[in-house]
Amino acid sequence: MTRTLIKHALASETAMDNILVEGWIRTRRDSKAFSFIELNDGTSLASIQIVADAGIPGYEDIGKMTTGASVSIHGKLIPSPGKQKWEIQVASIRLVGTAPDSYPLQKKGHSPEFLRSIAHLRARTNLFGAVFRTRSRLAAAVHRFFQERDFVWIHTPLITASDCEGAGEMFRVTTLDPLANNKNHEEDFFGKAAYLTVSGQLEGETMACALSNIYTFGPTFRAENSNTTRHAAEFWMIEPEVAFCDLEGDMDLAENFVKYLVRTMLDDQSGDMDFFCQFVDKGLRERLQHVADTPFVRCSYTEAVDILIKSGHKFDYPVSWGINLQSEHERYLTEEHFKSPVTLYNYPAAIKPFYMRLNDDGKTVTAMDVLVPGIGEIVGGSQREERLDILMDNIKRLGLNEEAYSWYVDLRRFGSVPHAGFGAGFERLLMFVTGVTNIRDVLPYPRTPGHCEY
Ligand code: 4AD
Ligand code: MG
Repeated sequence: MTRTLIKHALASETAMDNILVEGWIRTRRDSKAFSFIELNDGTSLASIQIVADAGIPGYEDIGKMTTGASVSIHGKLIPSPGKQKWEIQVASIRLVGTAPDSYPLQKKGHSPEFLRSIAHLRARTNLFGAVFRTRSRLAAAVHRFFQERDFVWIHTPLITASDCEGAGEMFRVTTLDPLANNKNHEEDFFGKAAYLTVSGQLEGETMACALSNIYTFGPTFRAENSNTTRHAAEFWMIEPEVAFCDLEGDMDLAENFVKYLVRTMLDDQSGDMDFFCQFVDKGLRERLQHVADTPFVRCSYTEAVDILIKSGHKFDYPVSWGINLQSEHERYLTEEHFKSPVTLYNYPAAIKPFYMRLNDDGKTVTAMDVLVPGIGEIVGGSQREERLDILMDNIKRLGLNEEAYSWYVDLRRFGSVPHAGFGAGFERLLMFVTGVTNIRDVLPYPRTPGHCEY
């Protein structure tokens, strides 16, 4: 007999004489004549109530059917007098795996810190079950958005020789025995230096300059030693790249993308969204509705600096034209000043990577960042420098290895076109739509400084 997932059992239109459900016990209560079990299989937040009369086959093990134990149950799906529509009257019950008293998820509240220390078990809690199911549905929505718009999903390499962002925040790829085939530690990818990618953008650009609209969606790595609630050493990034597109088109695409994901969550019928609104962030639905309904503010970097200076607000890091905006500045703009998502654009060239397009003023580039309340930067992108001479000047000025970038420069030699794209941090998007405030709690196995055991 095939197993019915508990989510489907609870949504059944009719009673059923024969049903098989399997899962993990959340709680059990006994009386003389029968036991009640709350059974969950992770397919939704809801547990189904199981009623087992004393004496049914398997009941002899009832004492071992404790919180966390796994069981397999044949029975009838019948109307429930309780808050749910259905419950199961057991015909037979089989203990599959016991969970002794040392099972860490006994029925009580647990702090996020404690749950992070048992990452391998925390998906069995309501919060993390909801987060990881939502992660999967949000990833599917990312693909839907781009696939519906004729974007081609490109799998860019994770091992690369180029530092896209030029920030030197790369993990080196090495072998277990680097000295065996190579004398130089720094070149032990078969005699070459190689790193884990910080971004698939450069390879993505080559594909957009052939296929028109592409996106990447995969893991990226940053060796920045920042212990914050929004940085991880390994995170997933979505990077669309569009040929024949300028900064304006890029900002439109980013705004439509964020709004699409937000609307997807507002329409979500799984019950997980209701859980986030009730237990994680009571203002979540209202905030997301506002994001879905209002155009994002667009503000140049220069105007933003002006606003920050005139605000009279005491920032830890002083504001002046040319600085890299810090999280406190970004959050002031989106949370206090505009009270809305903001797209900042035209940043100083000196603080941005070599590939961004130089504006006519000779000092700013066509960079843009989308900032949202509660998180700050969620998207970063730009129109790319398509002019061969200016790109070459940048490469020389920054002392980059010309030969290593020759393939990238070829795009400007052969049929160069204006093009633009952005990178959106998948975990930051997930935090934004769930209200979860720590990036460690939206990654199944977060990799942050000092944490990679499991
Ligand atoms: O702003 P970033 O560094 O931009 C790029 O990598 C460009 N190559 C993207 C492009 O134009 N194709 O990163 C893009 C986004 C950020 O806005 C942020 O949401 C996320 O990636 N991000 C991180 N998320 C989690 N942990 C980190 N350490 C992150 N660093 C960036
Ligand atoms: Mg950025």
